[in-house]
Amino acid sequence: MTIQFQLNGEAMSLDVPEDTPLLWAIRDHAGLTGTKFGCGIGMCGACTVHLNGRATRSCITTVGSVDGQQITTIEGLGQDGEHPLQQAWVDAQAPQCGYCQSGQIMQAATLLQDFPNPTNEQINQIMSGNLCRCMAYVRIRKAIHLAAG
Ligand code: FES
Repeated sequence: MTIQFQLNGEAMSLDVPEDTPLLWAIRDHAGLTGTKFGCGIGMCGACTVHLNGRATRSCITTVGSVDGQQITTIEGLGQDGEHPLQQAWVDAQAPQCGYCQSGQIMQAATLLQDFPNPTNEQINQIMSGNLCRCMAYVRIRKAIHLAAG
């Protein structure tokens, strides 16, 4: 089946089984490796992308379900990594190993859409599904506050 969708603003056409996880379409077919595989069952958040502007777990989203939709990955969030969240991540030195961070940033972008000046409690609640094995949560929270300005 040919699936067509917008990926970071560009038309994407894939001839793959419609139950292919979006994560693998992005990584293996589009070659965008910023989106990470963690658990594969929607529990860790490493694979978070935006579906029509909202954070979505790409490992449990079939490519067939995004036909005609708009997908944004970490590569498309800002120009050359200059999105305010990406700059804040640098300024706060948020990452340790870095593996989960693209998913963290994509989730944080949705958070700031809903809460432009979030409280610690709002950050803790909305980011709670994005796990970080390095336990960088305090710096991640600091970066979100920095991006909120
Ligand atoms: Fe998708 Fe963990 S890899 S939530």
